[in-house]
Amino acid sequence: MSRIVALVDNAVRRSTAFWAEHGLSFCVEQGGARLLWDTGQSGDVLRHNLDVAGLNLETCDALALSHAHYDHTGGLPFVLRERPGLPLYAHPEVLTPRFSLREGTYRSIGMGMSSEEVAKQADLRLSAEPQEIFPGLWTSGEIVERPEPEGRSAHHFVRRGDTWLPDPYRDDMSLVLETAGGVVVLCGCCHAGLLNTLAHVRRHFGRPIQAVLGGTHLASAGEEYLAHVIGVLQEEYGGMHYYLNHCTGENAFAALWKVFGAGRVHAFPAGSVVRF
Ligand SMILES: [Fe+2]
Ligand SMILES: [Fe+2]
Repeated sequence: MSRIVALVDNAVRRSTAFWAEHGLSFCVEQGGARLLWDTGQSGDVLRHNLDVAGLNLETCDALALSHAHYDHTGGLPFVLRERPGLPLYAHPEVLTPRFSLREGTYRSIGMGMSSEEVAKQADLRLSAEPQEIFPGLWTSGEIVERPEPEGRSAHHFVRRGDTWLPDPYRDDMSLVLETAGGVVVLCGCCHAGLLNTLAHVRRHFGRPIQAVLGGTHLASAGEEYLAHVIGVLQEEYGGMHYYLNHCTGENAFAALWKVFGAGRVHAFPAGSVVRF
């Protein structure tokens, strides 16, 4: 049996002592091993919520990062201070600086640590290919084919020499958990696009997708695109369950809930637990 705990999210379960912040972190337990998936934004919220959840980093076997953005990697200094040398799984481009352009100014929105610091403090295991972290728990690898729209922001840039380019989000990956009933996909921000990510996982793992969790980057999706996404989900991923949070957005959550119902669509704020 696998267990997933939402440690950091924009929202918390009602009447609990968990704290919220714009960010995402999950604890994934599989076959007696424990993985931290992303670290939230501040480290303070992760530390507090680990305590509330009765978990600690001492019993954490590895860390995986969905992508470089600060709301997923901001807790990294805290995690590596507590657990120097922790195996860290991610895409090689997770170390590339990221920026947001607002009112003519480029602001850093990537990792707070330099790539040298991360390389010194963690046991880096970077690959664009799927990596098996523990038996039955994989990174998705790079979402190479992206025929469907990505989860883009017009403000996101990377720098190549003297040139600013729209962020290609090559670093964006998900986690894939093998279960008796198929596979479970855990997204971070899903900048690669939800439909692209699901299609990639189906292609590589060749098993039905039982559930998708996390941020799906549908918060800014227009009505037409949302209707398209839901149409494809209905046609191609019938029976899939949804445990949604972070950048999914209330509008998309409500639209999915309306079509797939409360039996399949669940909010997954900090403090939520699900077993597969
Ligand atoms: Fe992001
Ligand atoms: Fe995010």
